[in-house]
Amino acid sequence: MGILIKGGKVVSAATTMLADVLVEGETIAQVAPGITANGHRVVDATGMLVLPGGIDVHTHLDMPFGGTVSADDYEWGTRAAAIGGTTTVIDFALQSMGHPMSEAFKTWRAKSEGKACIDYALHMAVTDLGPNDAWLDEVDAMVAEGISSFKIFMAYPNALMVDDATIFKLMQRTKKLGALVCVHAENGTVIDAIVQQALAAGHTGPLYHALSRPVEAEAEAVHRVVALSELAGGAKVYIVHVSNEKAMLEVKAARERGLPVQGETCMQYLVLSIEDDMGKPGFEDAKYVFTPPLREKKNQAPLWKALKDDVLQVISTDHCPFRFADQKTLGLGNFTKIPNGGPGIENRMQLAYHHGVNQGRISLERFVEISAEAPARIFGMYPRKGILAAGSDADILVWDPEAKYTITAATQNMHTDYSIFEGFQVKGNARQVFSRGELVVDSGRFVGTVGRGRYVHREVPGE
Ligand code: URP
Ligand code: ZN
Ligand code: ZN
Repeated sequence: MGILIKGGKVVSAATTMLADVLVEGETIAQVAPGITANGHRVVDATGMLVLPGGIDVHTHLDMPFGGTVSADDYEWGTRAAAIGGTTTVIDFALQSMGHPMSEAFKTWRAKSEGKACIDYALHMAVTDLGPNDAWLDEVDAMVAEGISSFKIFMAYPNALMVDDATIFKLMQRTKKLGALVCVHAENGTVIDAIVQQALAAGHTGPLYHALSRPVEAEAEAVHRVVALSELAGGAKVYIVHVSNEKAMLEVKAARERGLPVQGETCMQYLVLSIEDDMGKPGFEDAKYVFTPPLREKKNQAPLWKALKDDVLQVISTDHCPFRFADQKTLGLGNFTKIPNGGPGIENRMQLAYHHGVNQGRISLERFVEISAEAPARIFGMYPRKGILAAGSDADILVWDPEAKYTITAATQNMHTDYSIFEGFQVKGNARQVFSRGELVVDSGRFVGTVGRGRYVHREVPGE
């Protein structure tokens, strides 16, 4: 006996059609109109949208950063993700300087083991190629372990930043393997100089985190990393958290030249801004200290258009939560000590649907594409994930397009004492969430079991 999701509108990147979805075990057996009930457990989806489970490709769960550890571990983070309609996350394993990548892989598998509530995969954040580049061969070993994307930071000098030669050598290797290099693009050393000038002038409050990271520092880094990719013979590049128009235009220019460059933006850059959300009294702005920082409001429309026009392919969260009371306050009196990052894993689908589809900025099909299908394709999980089709994992959302919901820290499942989207009202929410055929969320309540989530061994994505 299977589960028959009946009477809903099934949406993919290509089309929307009235159809039923039959689930047998962990996978989808059939998607077609008029499947007969035949003893299956029927889920009435009349008036509902039936969507592939969301895929959030940019999360930092249980990550040591900025002198503390991100506030959501694998249990809390993936439970909150599921409640918000995300059924797969790709988290970052972080290589420690002086230690091999394989060690980070083991560490992150241990962090997730027995805790993940939904399926998860890993990127490897590379900080060190080792003595005489001895660890470059680990790139091949990581691909064999299912890690087909490698992250580098052009920001955070003396912590995570790597130099251009390291990026170039990594790209030469990923180019051979067909793997992807994900890039945090900001000119870290120039930003550091501006930061020192701000501190010397007595500007110590959180607003100066944003003011010392100009859009040009991001655009320059995107431009440079595109050039490095060309130098490496056309290595595949994915720019994470594109936050502003200038940086986005660098992605656009690279794509117009036919280069293998893709990118994402995050909800915070689409609906929050320096004008609306910073400049609050006291230390409140610390809640919005993430990197890249919030930008001027005028950047939002071009970013939405870039998502619509496939200049940017993905919407992610960069979920890196820190509590205000005891974590953000580490930076009282010195903004450089505020742990960088914000919570968002729970609200991505609701916000993207409401501000994207309901407001007419993107079509329903494009919403599915940027939140699920493109992430699966770009990161080597398609068609196992990202689409409702026979043979795919039964990661399914029964999405109520009329459900109204107000985002607030008081009821959220993320373990922060605030929400950057506090008071935002959305229409459209997941009514039921299935992960590999199991009902894990019912009307906003997690009903799955902790630790059921599996590691997803990703393939090297196709061209
Ligand atoms: O502020 C952020 N984004 N923290 C997480 C690390 C990163 O840069 O993605
Ligand atoms: Zn980053
Ligand atoms: Zn990040």
